[in-house]
Amino acid sequence: MDLDKALGLIAEVPDFPEPGVLFRDLSPLFADGPGFAAVVDALAATIGPEAELLAGVEARGFLLAAAVGYARGLGVVLVRKPGKLPSVAGRVDYALEYGTASVELPAGVVHPGARVAVIDDVLATGGTVAATVKLLEDAGADVGGVSVVLELGALGGRAVLAGRQVSALQVV
Ligand code: PRP
Ligand code: HPA
Repeated sequence: MDLDKALGLIAEVPDFPEPGVLFRDLSPLFADGPGFAAVVDALAATIGPEAELLAGVEARGFLLAAAVGYARGLGVVLVRKPGKLPSVAGRVDYALEYGTASVELPAGVVHPGARVAVIDDVLATGGTVAATVKLLEDAGADVGGVSVVLELGALGGRAVLAGRQVSALQVV
């Protein structure tokens, strides 16, 4: 499927998860085989040849990072919400567009100097990805770039990640 058509499968849901938020729901895109393949192929093409490992952000980032990792022959490190990992290398707390959250990194997976690319579905305020980058860098990783399907430009995530290579398949 054509990438634009695939991205057109993303639904807009007003007032979710709270009044005033226009939520972009990627569920119809994930559920469409050709659409999902088009997005995974396009994301895979944003990953530089130097990347040794992909970091997927829970939960929707897992889906994309796993598929891109398979496409590119790369492994995936799971960047998790708190309380899921038996052994934690680090934790970073951050503010979300709505509410607060934390991310944790499993111990013993990211080695100092590892060249890691971050994958998530949506870049909004940038809090999640910035926290993920900090988590990885605290572990000694060399974070080369960030790839997302959708960037919500008005929320300023790209500025929060100033100086980083950010690839978005669509900016709205
Ligand atoms: C969403 C999305 C990104 C993040 C973007 O995750 O998948 O990870 O928010 O927002 P930000 O740029 O303002 O940080 P959410 O925490 O809703 O988790 P989910 O993937 O488990 O649904
Ligand atoms: N859609 C999906 N995830 C999100 C959004 C959104 O609109 N905003 C922040 N995370």
